[in-house]
Amino acid sequence: MRDTRNIVILTGAGISAESGLATFRGPDGLWEGYRVEDVCTPEALRRDPELVLGFYDARRAALGAVVPNAAHAALGRLDAEWKGGLLIVTQNVDDLHERGGAKRLIHIHGELLSALCRACGGREAFAGDMIDGPACASCGADALRPDIVFFGEIPYEMETIQDAVSEADLFVSIGTSGAVYPAAGFVRIARAAGAETLELNLDPSEGSHWFGESRTGPASVLVPEWVDEVLARQG
Ligand code: OAD
Repeated sequence: MRDTRNIVILTGAGISAESGLATFRGPDGLWEGYRVEDVCTPEALRRDPELVLGFYDARRAALGAVVPNAAHAALGRLDAEWKGGLLIVTQNVDDLHERGGAKRLIHIHGELLSALCRACGGREAFAGDMIDGPACASCGADALRPDIVFFGEIPYEMETIQDAVSEADLFVSIGTSGAVYPAAGFVRIARAAGAETLELNLDPSEGSHWFGESRTGPASVLVPEWVDEVLARQG
């Protein structure tokens, strides 16, 4: 095992499940009630803005009723205490990592608490309902859309993420099914660069075989245990 200095962590919907936010796939998953192409594509937004804006308004409002769980808090502790390089890349659009104390964080699929202006391209903090047609704070246009990376769009900060994954000594994936690219491919980049790779997930995922080690169980148990281990390595 090489010395661990640079850590990259990829998180998915499973880390927020125990806070009460639905995952995407599986029996109670969000996509069970909605077809992805009806709410998560640029075409859907053009075709039926009320449906798409209403879907994300409801998810934004739901954030007020949930709190970070022990897994988010453990990653916040790791961020505060880990002296080496660290990047938490989340596919989640909730704000539970921030509320759990994470700072070295990228939302690769965008954020519910942000708005993207279709007129000027600006991104701004946003907390209300978009269905009411609020104006962009920068250009005044009535053109705000959820700042969510829809299918067919390019995820945020890919260059920074790919550089960090290539330089990682340890790559850890938490609560993601490994079904959506490019995030699902990060483990292969990390492996090719010689990183140790670890998966923490409730069940074996589609990509489990890519990881050097897979642990199964709830994130609220596995993540605090792993954070204790990795901080002990730091001494
Ligand atoms: P998924 O719903 O595809 O996968 C969630 C994973 O979390 C599954 O493998 C579950 O087994 C696992 N899981 C559930 N509860 C857990 C728990 N308590 N502890 C640990 N693991 C648990 O969600 P993602 O992989 O995040 O994209 O989905 C990736 C992307 O697909 C999302 O970001 C979203 C969606 O399309 C966009 O909206 C752009």
